[in-house]
Amino acid sequence: MTNIYAVILAAGKGTRMKSKLYKVLHPVCGKPMVEHVIDQISDLHTTEIVTIVGHGAEEVKGYLGGKSEFALQQEQLGTAHAVMQAEGNLGEKEGCTLVVCGDTPLIKSSTMEALVNYHQEQQAKATILTAYTELPDGYGRIIRNEMGMVEKIVEHKDATNEERQVKEINTGTYCFDNRYLFETLKKVSNDNAQGEYYLPDVIEILKKAGEKVAAYQTEDFSETLGVNDRVALSQAEKIMRERINEKHMRSGVTLISPENTFIGPDVVIGSDTVIYPGTVLAGSTSVGTDCEVGPNSEISNCQIGDGTSIRHSVAADSEIGSRVAIGPFAHIRPASNIGDEVKIGNFVEIKKAIFGKGSKASHLSYIGDAEVGSGVNIGCGSITVNYDGKNKFLTKIEDDAFIGCNSNLVAPVTVGKGAYVAAGSTITTDVPGEALSIARARQVNKENYVQKLNNKK
Ligand code: UD1
Ligand code: CA
Repeated sequence: MTNIYAVILAAGKGTRMKSKLYKVLHPVCGKPMVEHVIDQISDLHTTEIVTIVGHGAEEVKGYLGGKSEFALQQEQLGTAHAVMQAEGNLGEKEGCTLVVCGDTPLIKSSTMEALVNYHQEQQAKATILTAYTELPDGYGRIIRNEMGMVEKIVEHKDATNEERQVKEINTGTYCFDNRYLFETLKKVSNDNAQGEYYLPDVIEILKKAGEKVAAYQTEDFSETLGVNDRVALSQAEKIMRERINEKHMRSGVTLISPENTFIGPDVVIGSDTVIYPGTVLAGSTSVGTDCEVGPNSEISNCQIGDGTSIRHSVAADSEIGSRVAIGPFAHIRPASNIGDEVKIGNFVEIKKAIFGKGSKASHLSYIGDAEVGSGVNIGCGSITVNYDGKNKFLTKIEDDAFIGCNSNLVAPVTVGKGAYVAAGSTITTDVPGEALSIARARQVNKENYVQKLNNKK
């Protein structure tokens, strides 16, 4: 088996994005472009991945962490110069090297695999991934001779009018014989319209030296879209969204309106779940089977069980069990753990709270920094008073307790198992299990008060 290496070019600033954020970190469906590329390459079982970083090197490294090695390109002198920076990592090694641009987020592992296989079959020293497009502007053009063999790649800015008519473009993905790649890079000059060392020039140099150069044309141009500006970014977003949504529909998820459903690339959804319009599922969210999510819900990094319904609500960084009903208009904030068969109703905010099985907070509550047992009923408008202006404190509500409407539970405080809190109470000390606690002024009725008032006038 040949060793396969990968070099990802991610050092450019991306001037055309007109952004403070480095180009390859711009997200597509919530994930940075360069991370899409790396994740697809990871499927190929490469021996080593080296990402070339420059602009925003620390940020890019931060995002990619352990997924890649890194080589620094101090000055961005062109794509050939960028690849050269991996010489210390790869220069001496035997095998094939894939080079992929960090700004082509739609490239698929299957296409790269086909490219590598074709490269090996052809026993070429370099194989270019090409694509055909009616709108080749901005891309390097593939120049073939009378025999149909690739002669060279000409950058748009350097191309003659005749060359600009060519509709076969360089996708920016290549497979090279590793040794030949690093030998040839040394011979690339920067004598061109942009004064840069162009990686595509390696093709012409190899060809002139009599080495075999091949081209593999993919059918799907959209997969090779290079994102240089925000217009292309929105095109990439649309294509990626359609791809993700189709995958879920094919595996048994109903999307009522796919064009209004936004699912991140790493989200997992079980079959027979129905997603209503206006729903955003982001990050490492997983949704079980037979759930209903949306309309108009935003869920990030949540693990959700089976048969749960979440309508018109926001949830983040939390665990939500099975057969749970959330919303409409609920807010589940981070570090919450909502057990099975819980109900979190209208205008209820939950933060860093555990809810045991079957407990309910059905209307207008704030429950933060709390441990709620199972079978608890939290009446309308009740809140945990968790903050004294400096520190946060814990409220415990044990199993089967009943919290009357409009109660304040001033933490730290515990309401014991099966206890009752009378409506309108402000609870400041622990309530023993099975007790009834009433913490409000006793009612006084002044009989005939209105009459007395009228007599005074
Ligand atoms: C490049 C190709 C072009 C191809 C197109 C496909 C060259 C000279 N041209 O053009 O033939 O059709 O991609 O999308 O290669 N980068 C570095 N260091 C540098 C320069 C660039 O790391 O010094 C990185 C960028 O961050 C980017 C990638 O290389 O991720 C491509 O650079 P870019 O400037 O976008 O090249 P294009 O003009 O798109
Ligand atoms: Ca580009």
